[in-house]
Amino acid sequence: MGKKRIMLAATEVDLTKVKYDPGEIEGSSRFSTIVINFYYRSRKQTGFYFLYIVGFVHFVAAPDVTGLYLWIFVKLLETPLIGPAILSYLKKQNKIQAMLRETVIPEPPMFRPEFPPQEQEPGVVSLEEDRRSEDRVDSAIKCLPHYDPPSDFTTSFRYWKIRDYAYLYRSKITTPSIVAEHVISAIQEFTNKKPPTPLLISFDAMDVRKQAEASTQRFCEGTPLSVLDGIFMAIKDDIDCYPYPSKGGTTWLHEVRTVEKDAVSVSRLRSCGVIFVGKANMHEVGQGTTGNNSNYGTARNPHDLERYTGGSSSGPAAIVACGICSAALGTDAGGSIRIPSSLCGVVGLKTTYARIDIEGALCGGTNEIVGPIASSVEDVMLVYAAIVGASPIDKTSLRPSLPCLPNLSSSENSSILGSMRLGKYTEWFNDVFSPDISTKCEDALNLLSETHGCKVVEVMIPELHQIRTSHLVSFGSESLASITPHCQNRNYKKLTLDTRTNFALYGSFTASDYVAAQRLRRRLMYYHMEIFKMVDVIVTPTTGMTAPIIRPKSIKFGETHMKVTGNLMRFVISGNLLGLPAISVPVGYDKQGLPIGLQIMGRPWGEATILRLAMAFEGLRTESKKPVSYFNVLKRE
Ligand SMILES: *[C@@H]1O[C@H](CO)[C@@H](O)[C@H](O)[C@H]1NC(C)=O
Ligand SMILES: *[C@@H]1O[C@H](CO)[C@@H](O)[C@H](O)[C@H]1NC(C)=O
Ligand SMILES: *[C@@H]1O[C@H](CO)[C@@H](O)[C@H](O)[C@H]1NC(C)=O
Repeated sequence: MGKKRIMLAATEVDLTKVKYDPGEIEGSSRFSTIVINFYYRSRKQTGFYFLYIVGFVHFVAAPDVTGLYLWIFVKLLETPLIGPAILSYLKKQNKIQAMLRETVIPEPPMFRPEFPPQEQEPGVVSLEEDRRSEDRVDSAIKCLPHYDPPSDFTTSFRYWKIRDYAYLYRSKITTPSIVAEHVISAIQEFTNKKPPTPLLISFDAMDVRKQAEASTQRFCEGTPLSVLDGIFMAIKDDIDCYPYPSKGGTTWLHEVRTVEKDAVSVSRLRSCGVIFVGKANMHEVGQGTTGNNSNYGTARNPHDLERYTGGSSSGPAAIVACGICSAALGTDAGGSIRIPSSLCGVVGLKTTYARIDIEGALCGGTNEIVGPIASSVEDVMLVYAAIVGASPIDKTSLRPSLPCLPNLSSSENSSILGSMRLGKYTEWFNDVFSPDISTKCEDALNLLSETHGCKVVEVMIPELHQIRTSHLVSFGSESLASITPHCQNRNYKKLTLDTRTNFALYGSFTASDYVAAQRLRRRLMYYHMEIFKMVDVIVTPTTGMTAPIIRPKSIKFGETHMKVTGNLMRFVISGNLLGLPAISVPVGYDKQGLPIGLQIMGRPWGEATILRLAMAFEGLRTESKKPVSYFNVLKRE
C-alpha cells in the first residue's frame, strides 16, 4: 500500500489555479498503453524479468510474429495468481490503484450522469418526442436554410445531401431503385478486395433491392414517408437492424443473441422510409479506437487506404466518407462516433446521455449513446430529428429537456452566434501529436469569431487524469458486464487477443474501484458545470492525431501503438463519462492531406447549440477534398 491521500472537496478547488497535467503516460486510459508503459518502465527493474521478456517480445517483434507472443501474454493474464499479479503491478505503475484505493474522495458516487436543470437554448425549435419520427423530420426541414438544387449531378466532387436525393426523387429524375444499383456495386467492390476491407459485415443485396423498390413505389404514388424516404443508411454492427444479425464485429455473438426486431433508433428511421444497406464494420465489441478487425478485415480510410478509419464505428464513418451512404448510425462510449468521423472527414454527433433510447444496442451502460454520422451538419440534424427520444425509464428518472434544433432560417441566427462564448483550454488544446491539428482548429476558431463576433474564453479543466481513470473503470466494467452472459461455452476464447487483454484488465477492477470511479464522476461533473457557467461550449480538436498508418514498418510497433491510443482518445472521453453532447466537424487537412476534426462539447441536452456552431464552422470551411475512395451514386450513364 502507498500513502493515503485526501482530496479536497471539488467545491473548494480553485479552478483558476489548475495546472495542466497530461498524465504520466501519454494520455490514454487504454490497457495497451499500460502494457507498453510497463514494458518501458520494467526495463529498469529487476524482479519482473520474465514479464519483461514477454513485454519486450510483444512490442518489438515484427508484426507477423507478434501473434504468438500476444497469445502467451493473454494466457498469462488469464492464469490464476499470475494474471492478477501482472495486472496489479501494471495498475500500480499507472497510479490507478493510488487514485481508487489510496485516496479519500469526498464526493458521493454518481452512478450515471445526473444533470442540474438547464435553461432553454435561444432561437430553437423543439421536437416532440412523443410524435411520429416523420413529423419531427418535417419540423427539422423547416429549421434548415433555404435549399437550391444543384444544377449538375454528374461531374465535380461533392457529398450529396439528403435534400438532394429528396429533390431528385420528387422530380422523378432518378429513383431509389436506380441509386440502389450503384450503392450495391460500390459495396461489393470493397467486399471483394484482397485482403478484404469490408465496409459492411452483413449485407444482402436482395434485401436492399426490396426496400428500394418499396420506396420507389411510394414515390410513384406520390406518397413518400418523409424527406428520409429512399435515403441509404448503414447501421453499426452493434445496433439491431432486422433481419440482419448483430455480431458486434465478432464471429460468434449472433449465435447466442438473436435479433428479432429493430433497435428503437432503427425502427424510427424505418418508419421515415430509410433504406438500410446492412451492418457496418467495427472494432470488435467496441474495444478499440483504430477500427482494426481481424475477424472480417479492417475498413480503410477513404482518404488514404493505408490508414485506419478510426473506431470503433469504422464502417459507419467510412461508408459515409466514401459517398455510398448519406448517413449511418454508430455508438459512442469512448469516442467511437467522433474519432472515426474526425479521421474520415465527416460529421459525427454524440448526443447527450439518454437523449435517444438505446434499446436494441449491444452494450448500453452509462457512457454509451447511439448517434448519427453524415457528411454534413444538415444531414446529421435530419437523422437526429428522426431518432431522438428518450426511453420511458430515462424520461422519468432523468427528466431530459425537450430536444431542440437551431432555427437556421431565422434572422436571429447570426446574433445568437455572436453571443456565444467558446471555452478553450489552450494547453490541452495544443497537446496534439501534430501541430497541424491545433493550428487548423485554432484558425477555424479565429475565423468564426471574426465572422460572427463570438468570443473565445480561456478555461481550465482540472483532473483530466481522473477523467481517464474514472472512464476506464466505468466503461470497462460496463462492457464486461454486458458481454459476460454471452460468454458461456468458451465463447470468450473466440474474442480476439486484443479484446481479451482489455477484458482481463476490466475483470481485475473490484466493486470498490467502481464506486471510487463514480465518486470521481461527481467531482468531474461539478467542475464541468462550473465551467459551463462561464462558457456555452468547450472546443478542442476531436483527436490528437490524424488517421494512423495501418502497419508501420519503419517505426517500432510499441511506440506507435502507444501514441495512437493516447492521441485518439485525449479529448473525447469527458463527453462519455459526463454524458455531455459533442459533435466533430471537419475543419481542414494536415500536410499529408488527412482530415482534421474540431470537437464542440455542449451543456447537458444542448444539442441545438453545438449543431448551430457546427453549421457555422462548416459554412466557413475553405478546403474540401475528394477522398481517394469516392463513389458518385447519383451518376447517370
Ligand atoms: C489487425 O490487428 C491484428 C492483430 O490483432 C493484426 O494481426 C492484423 O494484421 C491487423 N490488421 C490490419 C488490417 O491492420
Ligand atoms: C424559423 O424562423 C423563421 C423566421 O423567424 C420563422 O418564419 C420559421 O417559422 C421558424 N421555423 C420554425 C420551424 O419554427
Ligand atoms: C444561419 O447560420 C447558418 C450557419 O452559419 C447559415 O448556414 C444560415 O444561412 C444562417 N441563416 C440566416 C438566415 O442567416
